[in-house]
Amino acid sequence: MVGLPGAGKTTRAAELAAAHPALRLTPDHWMVPLFEDSMADGKRWVLEGRLISLALQALRLGTSVVLDYGLWGRDERSALRWLARSAGAACRTVYLPVDKDVQLARIADRQATTPDRTFPMSEADVDAWREQFQAPDAAELNSGEIPPPPPGWPGWPEWAADHWPSCTES
Ligand SMILES: Nc1ncnc2c1ncn2[C@@H]1O[C@H](COP(=O)(O)OP(=O)(O)O)[C@@H](O)[C@H]1O
Ligand SMILES: [Mg+2]
Repeated sequence: MVGLPGAGKTTRAAELAAAHPALRLTPDHWMVPLFEDSMADGKRWVLEGRLISLALQALRLGTSVVLDYGLWGRDERSALRWLARSAGAACRTVYLPVDKDVQLARIADRQATTPDRTFPMSEADVDAWREQFQAPDAAELNSGEIPPPPPGWPGWPEWAADHWPSCTES
């Protein structure tokens, strides 16, 4: 899943997980109960790394996985596509674009109805995140080609192990 907070990723991920069926991995549903915070001094990347390892184990067992991360960066998405392929799985990027007004309304609605599954987000946060987000283009969504890692990296596994500490093979 790719998209900003409030884009509808977890809602769609649950639908996809039921339809396939697939294992759905939603870091926010772990971070908030564990740490009452979605980032917790970088622990999010540690948790995401462990869940990626779990996802790869599931793929090798023949179980489909929905990775319900935000995946704002193109490199994150390329790394995960590479890892999925290395586990023998097909990979589909599901991008949910969202206009800012719809995003703000959904965030407010979610905060009011399920505060235990989310965290407070201001309009300034949303503006900053919309600037940071690298939306996938048509080539990324439609082509099976995976670009090489950034200069200096021997491969995507090494990049992933740096970006997501604890993203190891087991
Ligand atoms: N397609 C949709 N139409 C209207 N509301 C939606 C839709 N998808 C999600 N929502 C609502 O918007 C809020 C955010 O959705 P969620 O799936 O939690 O987004 P994300 O996981 O991308 O942050 C939730 O309250 C959800 O019920
Ligand atoms: Mg979500």
